Amino acid sequence: MKIYVPLDSAAKALGADEVAAAIAAEAEARGLEIELIRNGTRGMVWLEPLVEVEDGGERLAYGPLTPAEVPALLDRTLDTLGRVEDMPFFARQTRLTFARCGLTDPLSLADYQAHGGLSGLRRALGMTAEAVVDEVKTSGLRGRGGAGFPTGIKWDTVRMAHASQKYIVCNADEGDSGTFADRMIIEGDPFCLIEGMIIAGLGTGATKGYVYLRSEYPVAIELLRQAIDIARADGVLGSSVLGSGRSFDMEVRVGAGAYVCGEETSLLNSLEGKRGVVRAKPPLPALEGFLGRPTVVNNVISLATVPVIFEKGAQHYADFGLGRSKGTIPVQIAGNVKYGGLFETAFGMPLGELVNDVAGGTASGRPVKAVQIGGPLGAYFATADFDTPFGYEEFDGQGGLIGHAGLVVFDDSADMLHMARFAMEFCAVESCGKCTPCRLGAVRGVETLDRIAAGDTGAVPLLTDLCEVMKDGSLCALGGFTPYPVLSALQRFPEEFGTVKEAAE
Ligand code: NAI
Ligand code: SF4
Repeated sequence: MKIYVPLDSAAKALGADEVAAAIAAEAEARGLEIELIRNGTRGMVWLEPLVEVEDGGERLAYGPLTPAEVPALLDRTLDTLGRVEDMPFFARQTRLTFARCGLTDPLSLADYQAHGGLSGLRRALGMTAEAVVDEVKTSGLRGRGGAGFPTGIKWDTVRMAHASQKYIVCNADEGDSGTFADRMIIEGDPFCLIEGMIIAGLGTGATKGYVYLRSEYPVAIELLRQAIDIARADGVLGSSVLGSGRSFDMEVRVGAGAYVCGEETSLLNSLEGKRGVVRAKPPLPALEGFLGRPTVVNNVISLATVPVIFEKGAQHYADFGLGRSKGTIPVQIAGNVKYGGLFETAFGMPLGELVNDVAGGTASGRPVKAVQIGGPLGAYFATADFDTPFGYEEFDGQGGLIGHAGLVVFDDSADMLHMARFAMEFCAVESCGKCTPCRLGAVRGVETLDRIAAGDTGAVPLLTDLCEVMKDGSLCALGGFTPYPVLSALQRFPEEFGTVKEAAE
């Protein structure tokens, strides 16, 4: 009998380690032979710890499981949730990037290969660098960190640059509130990221990779380091990748906890051991990145999506999605919802379907008021915007952005002026201080919102002016995008700023 207990941080926070210990102890006391596997999460956080028992070819789920229920679990008298694949939240998904997450043992290379792992890399090893990049271009993959820049074009810039050394840098400084996709795949399927980075190396000529991982993710750091060691010992990484004679190696570097280090140029500074301050662009990192060499800086999900593109073919991937938003997007559902977790779906699902049907509305049972999409710098959408399809251009058309695809849902008790103030406060705290619109603007923004809260509606035009200056004049997205939550709150909920809609426009 195989028993799967997630080692994912969210599952651990909800008691997975205690459940695993209880299962081991109970099995030993009974003299029962079991194989206890610590897998990644299936992504249904409200059911964690979600334990699966595989017996007689059937894999059944139980959760949320408590240590007290372990004897009944082993007696097989506990009510089961059935197969994960049949549960509505899971069955509605299109799992391409996250296909293996929660299914396999994250540190078993044999399990990884048994579920399609390394077949993309094997195919890429037989292709020229140009063909590798063309495959990514054909897939339509765009940067999943937030900006949505075409990954193939970025790789091509690095491929065509002349340099004795090039680098692949994976941005795993997942700082957006309500997001956890990077952590979840690193904890659940780390070889997938490693494989994606090697393929990126083959496409661009880079032979060295770094994963810049945030210190707040200790489980992911430990797991990825172990996975890299296993991959190196098995000849997947090193001087001859899978015996091909091509070389690629990588290591993990841990960040110190600054939000701005998720911005690629301050990340590179931090990686070089310098203070995490934003660099002016140009030069682009693709031409002058880590240590001044051509560098691909890609988000975890962009890189972890590459193996399935090579395994199933670029066209297979591109056939999912909507318009220029091709493939799938792992939406992370958080906040005041009944069913929170990771939902991978083809682009195009309307926002309202995600919030009302998939997430089941609010946990509090009160009406949904607003959804913040794309982290602390993302816009607030109201229920009137719920028919907006999930896509880069579609969200842009509504004055928002997808960002790293995190949704945080609020019910009608949310105070939108307070939320706008929080955005300015966040920017003031996290600003690297390099440019004036952000460094001073955020502080003035907090003061201006306090004036409005005190009843001074004359300060509203000042706030909109300030937001325009921050949008147009900031050096990076931290200062440049802070106006999104502020202006969207003002425009969609003007009455909460003591003003009418016209004044906000
Ligand atoms: P950007 O639009 O300046 O650049 C996008 C990417 O394309 C960069 O890597 C840039 O170097 C590259 N690029 C642009 N032109 C290129 C060319 N011709 N050749 C090769 N590469 C080229 O956006 P930025 O500032 O990198 O990212 C902003 C985004 O980050 C926002 O959309 C925001 O949602 C997101 N974000 C994500 C967070 C997270 O936790 N994942 C946190 C904060 C922000
Ligand atoms: Fe630094 Fe803010 Fe300017 Fe970005 S916008 S460079 S975080 S001061």
